Amino acid sequence: MEKFIIDGGRPLKGEVSISGAKNAAVAIIPAIMLSDGVCRIENLPNISDVAAIIRIMYELGANIKVINKNTIEIDPTNIYAHTIPSDLTKRMRASCYFIGAMLGRFNKARIAPPGGCDFGVRPIDQHIKGFEALGAKVTIDNGMVDARADRLTGSSVYLDVVSVGATINIMLAAVKAKGMTVIENAAKEPHIVDLANFLNSMGADIMGAGTDVIKIRGVNTLRGTTYSIIPDQIEAGTYMVAAAATGGNVLIKNVIPKHLEAISAKLEEAGATVTVYDEAVRVQSKGRPKKCNVKTMPHPGFPTDMQPQMTTFLSVADGTSIITEGVWDNRFKYVDQLTLMGANIQVDGKVAVISGVKRLNPAPVYATDLRAGAALVIAGLMAKGMTEIECVEHIDRGYEDIVEKLSGLGASIKRIKAPNAALQKTAL
Ligand code: EPU
Repeated sequence: MEKFIIDGGRPLKGEVSISGAKNAAVAIIPAIMLSDGVCRIENLPNISDVAAIIRIMYELGANIKVINKNTIEIDPTNIYAHTIPSDLTKRMRASCYFIGAMLGRFNKARIAPPGGCDFGVRPIDQHIKGFEALGAKVTIDNGMVDARADRLTGSSVYLDVVSVGATINIMLAAVKAKGMTVIENAAKEPHIVDLANFLNSMGADIMGAGTDVIKIRGVNTLRGTTYSIIPDQIEAGTYMVAAAATGGNVLIKNVIPKHLEAISAKLEEAGATVTVYDEAVRVQSKGRPKKCNVKTMPHPGFPTDMQPQMTTFLSVADGTSIITEGVWDNRFKYVDQLTLMGANIQVDGKVAVISGVKRLNPAPVYATDLRAGAALVIAGLMAKGMTEIECVEHIDRGYEDIVEKLSGLGASIKRIKAPNAALQKTAL
């Protein structure tokens, strides 16, 4: 167990480079299973969720060659297994992508239910609806999701809720199915487009990714490819908010500014200056932010994965801000930790009312999930004095070299062993 010690109150200054997108990487790696040849993936983020998904590929029989910390070659041709036990699926949601990928490759999949951040109920009914539309029979048996088909056949699937996971899983199952699959009301997140581009680079025939209708014409084979993952929208957004929240001036490099428009718009509304370049954005800010209301929505709306960071920033705004969570039922658990640091936030279901305070104060806190952890790092950078954050393994799931990147921007942040973290977690 490790914790972060942050001596906060210093504006972030300088340049930071953004890593590859976690949520693209954890979809692209299972997709490799559908290939008949070796795939080389570049700009892979070096984070624990990616390590966990690569481990599943390895356990299933793939040959893995690590070229360097951000490049890997995976040869899936020897994969024989189509069952994944719970010790491999319980830590991350994206393990459910192996259902679509294994159905696409073997016409059968058997996996323990996926874990991941706890935001209340996280059903997979829309994934199942898609698999069934393609002709699979899906049952839950002995605590395992079991999906099998004689042969998958393209079909129309209308998603009742816009779901990133269901859109990805149905694409994976459909890409080698017979005939045309149409996903209506599909998710439009950048990582959906990245997955489609990756699959197309292997010879798939996918059109419309990034719109709400995706058409997938099934192909018989997919070949090996070399592919570079897009920059991480949420990592970039987190550094943007950290720069604004500390009254800093930071150039955030290796980004796709188009993916950051909703975040930039809200930061500007709160009084920060965002300058957009071809592959970079600069965020500058001084003084307290202005109050600002935010509602999270599927892309291109304001991303739910930036909600805790934005709430933290607005906790010191001049006035009252309202944050409405439009994606998850229960994504305000971290607010108790911000309250310990002096924030004044009332949560009622999916709405948080933030009465801005003048400053946050340092306190011992713990990360309840990945983005909550990122938000507490921002809170620690804002609060003058020593903040300790426990349970940082959540943060390591999605942020490559966060201590090094923040230190490069002038933050005082250290990672240390936390012998009592396990104890504290058990007690909670
Ligand atoms: N939903 C259903 N039925 C389903 C699937 C989803 O009702 O079958 C509901 C969910 O309960 C939720 C909404 O639809 O209310 C959206 O869920 P979605 O399926 O889009 O989420 P996900 O695929 O499980 C991904 C990201 C999350 C991110 C959400 C929303 C990955 C691995 N995870 O989750 O990212 O919050 O999309 O954008 O891509 C993170 O990176 O920190 C993270 C949690």
